[in-house]
Amino acid sequence: MIKARIVGTGSTTPRRILTNKDLEAIVDTSDEWITRRTGIKERRISTNGRGENTSELATSASLKALKMAGILPESLDMIVVGTVTPDRQFPSAACFVQKALQASKAVAFDVSAGCSGFLYALSVADNAIARGTCHNALVIGAERLSSITNWEDRSTCVLLGDGAGAVVLTPTTDAGGDGVLSTHLQSDGNFWNLLYSYDQRSKIPEILDTIEGKPFSLRMEGNRLFRKAVVCLADIAASALEHNGLTCNDIKLMVPHQANLRIICAVAERLSIPMERVYTNIERYGNTSSATIPIALDEANREGLLERGDHVLLVTFGAGLTWGASIVKWSF
Ligand code: ACO
Repeated sequence: MIKARIVGTGSTTPRRILTNKDLEAIVDTSDEWITRRTGIKERRISTNGRGENTSELATSASLKALKMAGILPESLDMIVVGTVTPDRQFPSAACFVQKALQASKAVAFDVSAGCSGFLYALSVADNAIARGTCHNALVIGAERLSSITNWEDRSTCVLLGDGAGAVVLTPTTDAGGDGVLSTHLQSDGNFWNLLYSYDQRSKIPEILDTIEGKPFSLRMEGNRLFRKAVVCLADIAASALEHNGLTCNDIKLMVPHQANLRIICAVAERLSIPMERVYTNIERYGNTSSATIPIALDEANREGLLERGDHVLLVTFGAGLTWGASIVKWSF
């Protein structure tokens, strides 16, 4: 049986750091409130003209992942980008990545699934590899949420940031069973109004005048979303474990979507996974939507936290509503 395995990871975040203290000058908030309620200390914000739009961040992360994998762009058959903030409505961010990489053989397209974009994209590429219709695939989560943030809404602008992460997938028939074991996805459009975009260009604060705003902003009902997120994340992670005949004790590392440290802690507690086995970097990047999981996975990988044969649990939740979980048996 053919499975997809991860053979390279990469990530890139913009250079500009926006701290909680900086935000105190923009909205009525405090470092103390943001840290206590979310775990976030700072986030990265893209600057125009510095190679930091969504597809440029995605390309940079991809080059690092391809280098680690030892695979050339021209060998790619598929590029899938999970994003809600592509450079343009169309063409897709993936086509811009394809152009930048000169990956002429690859089919390239975006997947829109809120913060769950990366896992949805992973599922598409994984299935194509398992069917034998694709050999080498690049799966990316990339966002420039600063362009759709309402900078006058303190309940959301303190949460969000920009960045990109990527993984390279190749096929394996290894009897040892390495690779993506399974991905489980769910959606519920009935709850679309807990997190959505609406037509209104945000007024960019003076200290952030390097942001290029889009003609729409993001609106969120944080409290209800919080409660939904904990239940959905814990339930789908439990289903993924059960599907593979695993228990939480088999998981070396959980890499969850980074929306709120309190959500992550509550999910870990429900699953009985101690926080030492949960990767978090939300304090440095905030919520980068589709990019949180591939950035965190890349950091965990480069920090040497993963060894061949380890089970990694990826779990996500976002606008749609959408949510999902994937279990990967680490390959290198
Ligand atoms: N600074 C200071 N006070 C604030 C701030 C702020 N930045 N934001 C809100 N408050 C105030 C509110 O006005 C409210 O005041 P009140 O009691 O006087 O009315 C109080 O703090 C509590 O507000 P809540 O919204 O109840 O705060 P809560 O503890 O729920 O935290 C948060 C809010 C952080 C947004 C949380 O609800 C959350 O993380 N929700 C889930 C986010 C999520 O999972 N998103 C999914 C993915 S995101 C994506 O797809 C892009």
